[in-house]
Amino acid sequence: MLLRATICAAFFFQVAPILAREARGHVSVVLLGATGDLAKKYLWQGLFQLYLDEVSHGHTFTFHGGAQSEPEQGRKLMYERLKDLACPPDVAPDRCAVVKDQFLRLTEYHRLKTEQDYAALDREIRTVLTQEGLEEAGRIFYLSVPPFAYVDIARHINSSCRPPAGAWLRVVLEKPFGHDLKSGQDLADELKAVFQEEEIYRVDHYLGKQAVAHILPFRDQNRQHLKPIWNRHHVERVEIVLKETVDVKNRTSFYEEYGVIRDVLQNHLTEVLMLLAMELPENISNTEDVLRSKLQTFASLRSLEKSSAVIGQYEAYNSHVREELQKGPDYFSSTPTFAGVLVQLDSLRWEGVPFILTSGKVLDERVGYVRVLFKNRAYCVQRETAQDPELSQCNPKQLVFHIGQGELNSPAVLVSRNLFKPAMPRGSWKEVHDRPDLRLFGQPLSDYYVYVPSVERDAYSTLISRIYHGQKDVFITTDNLLASWGFWTPLLASWASESPRLYPGGRENGPLLDFEVVGGEVRFVTKEAVEVMMTARGEQAPGEYKTIQSRFRQSQLVTAWSEELIGRLASDIEAAAAGAIRRSGAFHWALSGGSSPLALFKQLAWHHYSFPWKQTHVWLVDERCVPLADPESNFGNLHEHLLRHVRVPYFNVHPMPVHLHQRLCVEEDRGPELYAREIAALVANSSLDLVLLGVGPDGHTASLFPHAAVGLEGGEPDVVFTESPIKPHQRMTFSLDLINKAKRVAVLVLGRGKHDIVTVVSRAGHEPQKWPISGVKPSSGQLAWYVDYEALLG
Ligand SMILES: *[C@@H]1O[C@H](CO)[C@@H](O)[C@H](O)[C@H]1NC(C)=O
Ligand SMILES: *[C@@H]1O[C@H](CO)[C@@H](O)[C@H](O)[C@H]1NC(C)=O
Ligand SMILES: *[C@@H]1O[C@H](CO)[C@@H](O)[C@H](O)[C@H]1NC(C)=O
Ligand SMILES: *[C@@H]1O[C@H](CO)[C@@H](O)[C@H](O)[C@H]1NC(C)=O
Repeated sequence: MLLRATICAAFFFQVAPILAREARGHVSVVLLGATGDLAKKYLWQGLFQLYLDEVSHGHTFTFHGGAQSEPEQGRKLMYERLKDLACPPDVAPDRCAVVKDQFLRLTEYHRLKTEQDYAALDREIRTVLTQEGLEEAGRIFYLSVPPFAYVDIARHINSSCRPPAGAWLRVVLEKPFGHDLKSGQDLADELKAVFQEEEIYRVDHYLGKQAVAHILPFRDQNRQHLKPIWNRHHVERVEIVLKETVDVKNRTSFYEEYGVIRDVLQNHLTEVLMLLAMELPENISNTEDVLRSKLQTFASLRSLEKSSAVIGQYEAYNSHVREELQKGPDYFSSTPTFAGVLVQLDSLRWEGVPFILTSGKVLDERVGYVRVLFKNRAYCVQRETAQDPELSQCNPKQLVFHIGQGELNSPAVLVSRNLFKPAMPRGSWKEVHDRPDLRLFGQPLSDYYVYVPSVERDAYSTLISRIYHGQKDVFITTDNLLASWGFWTPLLASWASESPRLYPGGRENGPLLDFEVVGGEVRFVTKEAVEVMMTARGEQAPGEYKTIQSRFRQSQLVTAWSEELIGRLASDIEAAAAGAIRRSGAFHWALSGGSSPLALFKQLAWHHYSFPWKQTHVWLVDERCVPLADPESNFGNLHEHLLRHVRVPYFNVHPMPVHLHQRLCVEEDRGPELYAREIAALVANSSLDLVLLGVGPDGHTASLFPHAAVGLEGGEPDVVFTESPIKPHQRMTFSLDLINKAKRVAVLVLGRGKHDIVTVVSRAGHEPQKWPISGVKPSSGQLAWYVDYEALLG
């Protein structure tokens, strides 16, 4: 400490005389979480930038990094983080080296864990100031720590580390600020007990991004252009978008609690929405007026309904969660990683204009932007007029605040040339004409006036500078925060245990996440996807199978790990049998070959003692043209694995007549006709109670292969001969017609090997020639898919 003070003293001695003329006192900056990721990536650099900008303007500084580690280790870690501090290109290398050296000498590590630690820091600050004869101007505490630590730290600061009267205190907090209205309110109350509202700086780093920070000034400086068109008569829609390509691997313990709506929409995108939608105060430098206008805009937001949003989850997310949070195989997360939300305002200005907020992980590109698309009624008859971007009234008219990344890879403001030439502040923004052919939002860049910042600045350094200058307008006040939570909480609640649409990620998403606004609701454009739905956790009765129910191809989907899935299917079959027997005295069940049903047979044979075998008729969906005793025979397998273990009456078993007149599957023996007649004789309307099917990797089902000559179209015999591409080639099978007459059809799909076909089929339309399984659609019966996780998720 003594040594430290001496170093400081040496520095102040040199600098103090220079400052004496305009000395404005000393500022202590305390960074909590000094060894963390955010500190490493942005905060130390932001503080260094602050020092660089301000050191010659009157204040003296010291910087204090705080963390839980013991001094020795913490200091080492912290200086690791400080190694890479850099100056912007406009600072001469000599000056940079000098200032960096000064900065490092003014920076010290402290263990800040207990009340005593904070008291010690306070004593140290006071002692040094006394020794140097400096007035204290204020203290900044930047809390880059998990939110559960806020309250304790806040109390310690209040009781042991407040600056003396006359000096200011600014406490900076990072999101999350709660996870719903209630917790946001609780946290706000805790902070209010120890700090004044003006002492609290809640950071939304998005507000420090240059394009976002310029929205209000842009509206202000272009009032005369925007006044007539900034309303529902002229704005078609507004898109506020933050797309990311990264996943949340290694961060699931945070993400699983929050999800994309809490992580991005409730804060960043909502704040941007406010800047666009609020009534513009006369004086945008007046923080109170801006805040008042913002709160009025919150009040005019129409409440969100469940149908205001579409949500998705990238497919690998659940396995990341299971792995990192040590969840069992039955854990299925409903946390969204993608959301598209329609926000509407009940105000004269915006009535009926859709504001669309979109964000997601593992999308095709990383980009953030705001796009205001204006209505365009003109239709240009002559080609020439369409070619002059400044005159053409038929080209799109849009205003874009490009926040970052994307193809432009820079913050920018774009204004269609057929709108107006905007006023931009000279010095801080410059017009550019690079890459005229690059197409953005349907137009080449040459169709826009394009402006980029003269110097790109990181959001955190902008915000740190604002904190230092006490400019509160870019921080989230308590009222603002609670208004936002109040708006989002009902939507979060209504989606809490609902199914996100699963998406594969990246370019493979294709149109899967595209959504449309229809009649005040949003919905995905493509309907044929897997939508896994949670059975609400905790609602399961003991002993019930932990399966998940949802929709697949607009029919029921049951999914689980294969063992649980088989258990569930066996129970459903038993229930179907009981129902059929109650109705008609018998249960007519048709089974397919293949390996998937073997586990089901075992389950039925060994665990379902009460199964009504006596009234059950067993039919075959398809058969290979081999003798029944052949190991390839479906019937042989069925006999081996099921029939010989249960007490089905002999005359209730109906093998397919593939072997007639001592020959296999000969047309003139009319085997298919015989079987169809037998079914018609015993089963009313040939409507079987249950048909159990599988799916082949090529999309075949029963022995109906892609492009089969018969069996796939309507109006055909109930039972037909087909050809298989694999041996044995000759088959006898139910046609789609017969299958679709059934009262119930269950499709069982197991194993990773089926993932590709499941994915394809989930999106395919009715294309039986291409994917025979897509032709399964009972005309008046029910269809249920039993797909295990491996097949569903890969
Ligand atoms: C804040 O600090 C003051 C002064 O030490 C103390 O009187 C007050 O109780 C503290 N407030 C809380 C909520 O701890
Ligand atoms: C995740 O954490 C592990 C172990 O800490 C590390 O090796 C890996 O690089 C991290 N992966 C990502 C994507 O950050
Ligand atoms: C706008 O508000 C700021 C902050 O309150 C004030 O300093 C400034 O004088 C005001 N400008 C005008 C034109 O009223
Ligand atoms: C058989 O079909 C007829 C006509 O479609 C229908 O009225 C009748 O209810 C059906 N019978 C059974 C048992 O499904």
